Amino acid sequence: MLKKIPFFDYPQLFNSYEEDLTNIFKDVGKRGAFIMQKDLEEFEANLTNYTGAKHAIGVANATDGLQICLMAGGLINKGEVLISSHTMIATASAIHYAGGIPVPVECGKNLMLDINSAEEALTDKTVAIMPTQLNGRTCNMDEIIHFATKNNLSIFEDAAQALGSKFKNKYAGTFGIASAISLYPAKILGCLGDGGAILTNDSDVYEKIILLRDHGRDPVSGEVISWGFNSRLDNIQAAFLNYFFSKYDEVILKRRFFAQLYDEGLNEIEEIYLPEPPNNGDHFDVFQNYEIQAKNRNELREYLSKNGIGTLTQWGGKAIHQFKGIGMDKNLPVTDKIFSEILMLPLNLFINEDDVKYIIEKIKDFYVKN
Ligand SMILES: Cc1ncc(COP(=O)(O)O)c(C=O)c1O
Repeated sequence: MLKKIPFFDYPQLFNSYEEDLTNIFKDVGKRGAFIMQKDLEEFEANLTNYTGAKHAIGVANATDGLQICLMAGGLINKGEVLISSHTMIATASAIHYAGGIPVPVECGKNLMLDINSAEEALTDKTVAIMPTQLNGRTCNMDEIIHFATKNNLSIFEDAAQALGSKFKNKYAGTFGIASAISLYPAKILGCLGDGGAILTNDSDVYEKIILLRDHGRDPVSGEVISWGFNSRLDNIQAAFLNYFFSKYDEVILKRRFFAQLYDEGLNEIEEIYLPEPPNNGDHFDVFQNYEIQAKNRNELREYLSKNGIGTLTQWGGKAIHQFKGIGMDKNLPVTDKIFSEILMLPLNLFINEDDVKYIIEKIKDFYVKN
């Protein structure tokens, strides 16, 4: 029987929790609590309690969050920042608008920033490295910290996809000067619209972030004391997020369970390369995405689509150095090859064990026939 498994089911995000979400909406509405209210404060406290970061600041989205981190963290004008080319354009645009120059480097077979390529890209203008904690995995941060220390670079993290993931028991987003996480609806912790948050352990940087997020206004006196933006996280979104956060551990367990199922079902197919399974050494992965590398990727994708299975090629199938016209063209052959094979399989709360088994069966069928 033909099943229908969309890559992500947006209506379900609301429909599955309709009653509770409607009650939250009414509660916030009746209180008139729209901007910078207690739900936002509670959400920020939930984030610090969960990650162990000293400070959490809700912002309008992670793209703003990254830019604000870099500005508050003292990115030097025209300083070069090393990033993986396997990231969202937002990583690079945040650097651009903060006055720096994004320098994409190769990703490795594990899809994370390749430190050897970063080494080769060093110049006397390099001031920072901003690894993307991709797909719900934290990079090997020992390696990044060693590299940054040796070369006198600041560390920022693009933790947009990684809330809850850890390296050596330390949470993504807590390693460098500051980091941003995304709360976009399809993220593991997603709200009903755009949203983001910044984490930092540095109290001076925190003070600057607070000003940058709200027009440069002193939060107590309201007086403008520096330049700033309007990048506040809506209080209604914070209220939804507090609700979803209360289920977060359960959600991560489920995602890791599905990742394990995929791993067991697919690991003998020679034509595909899988993410590392859960319970892997120093990494605690939360599987924001399950991104495989597949031979005959386009044909596989089409075959799965004919069988009702939605898949996605991340960033529309292009690494950021492949976008012509924004000045980041670079020769990154390893990433080029990887991008001809990457494919994300459905992994979210609205699929079940049978769906995953069906997807596995169809992938096996495809490679038997091809
Ligand atoms: C790696 C990465 N960085 C940055 C962003 C930007 O996040 P937002 O949409 O919240 O601005 C995303 C969002 O998908 C992302 O995946």
